[in-house]
Amino acid sequence: MVNTMNILGIETSCDETAVSVIDASAKNEITVLSNVVSSQVKLHARFGGVVPNLAAREHAKNIGKVFELALKESKTKSVKDIDLIAVTRGPGLGPALLIGLTFAKALAWQNNLPIIGVNHLLGHVYSNWLKEARLDEKKLFPTINLIVSGGHTELSLMSKHNKQKIIGETLDDAIGEAFDKVARLLDLGYPGGPIISKYASQGDPNKYPLPRPMIHSKDFNFSYSGLKTAVLYLLRDLKEKMVEINENVRADIAASFQEAATDVVIQKTIKAARKYKVKSIMLSGGVSANNSLREKLLSACKNSDFAFYCPEMKYTTDNATMIAIAGYYEFKHKKTANKWRNILMDANLSI
Ligand code: KG4
Ligand code: ZN
Repeated sequence: MVNTMNILGIETSCDETAVSVIDASAKNEITVLSNVVSSQVKLHARFGGVVPNLAAREHAKNIGKVFELALKESKTKSVKDIDLIAVTRGPGLGPALLIGLTFAKALAWQNNLPIIGVNHLLGHVYSNWLKEARLDEKKLFPTINLIVSGGHTELSLMSKHNKQKIIGETLDDAIGEAFDKVARLLDLGYPGGPIISKYASQGDPNKYPLPRPMIHSKDFNFSYSGLKTAVLYLLRDLKEKMVEINENVRADIAASFQEAATDVVIQKTIKAARKYKVKSIMLSGGVSANNSLREKLLSACKNSDFAFYCPEMKYTTDNATMIAIAGYYEFKHKKTANKWRNILMDANLSI
């Protein structure tokens, strides 16, 4: 392998068309050369959520332009300077994923480049691996990953690169989905996370006692649909009592909901970290942009003596930089495991 590698990342699993170029040095220092994200949020907002076929159509329209911009911004003169393509293969919306995957495969075939399919959630985990973060892997592993996004709430035990075990996940709605649904109940629009956290910062988190589903369960699974329903009933009761749902009431509901939602993931993450005697806790996924979650988890980690890592804000929501980094580590692993030939032209790569 050459001393440094340029990796092209491609991400189209949901409503962001994203292409990035990173440089990975021989010492595994990751430098971001470009990180282009074209968001479709406005398009889907009027439907209150992402419409898969619309998302796919937008990806198909935009991916070429986003790719060219990512190459241009990275100053890699052409695709000839790329050493590896990493593309999200799932989980995500089928029609949306297929656009990125087909684009990546065509590029790989045309330029005789190796291609790696990346798990989207593993991608989120690797959003923590940028050079600026100066991760010390000796202090990191084993770690508990708390991955919180619009589609997933997952706890996994990671003892080293390419060694991960899922220890808990949501049984129904994901935490991000709950933020989105509560925002809809409060008529705050889509996506719900950023707007709920803005309202919550003005509200009283103890105003309305809301349930913390499964907080004391013996396993590490989660459930968020009951919390969303509790907000629905709270709103119904307030309306029956003729309470006006004004900005103050909205802020208090948002704060109470956010407090309940974050309490559960934090308590279970710390419990898992103690059980598995890890050195650190690593947060990732779109909901990791939530300041209250970051602060509360950081202070819980300090109290329990675990190192805490979370991604830079701009890499919390979907992007292709994280996919490129995860692809790089996967590539290194496969190469050392002598599976290089299998991925040189992975014609079978699918979602
Ligand atoms: O990781 P992501 O970009 O896409 C998926 O893989 O699902 O996560 C999107 C989710 C959405 O549900 C959005 O509402 C949530 O992340 N989110 C937030 C915040 N920013 C985005 N949730 C809470 N607080 C935020 N500040
Ligand atoms: Zn995501």
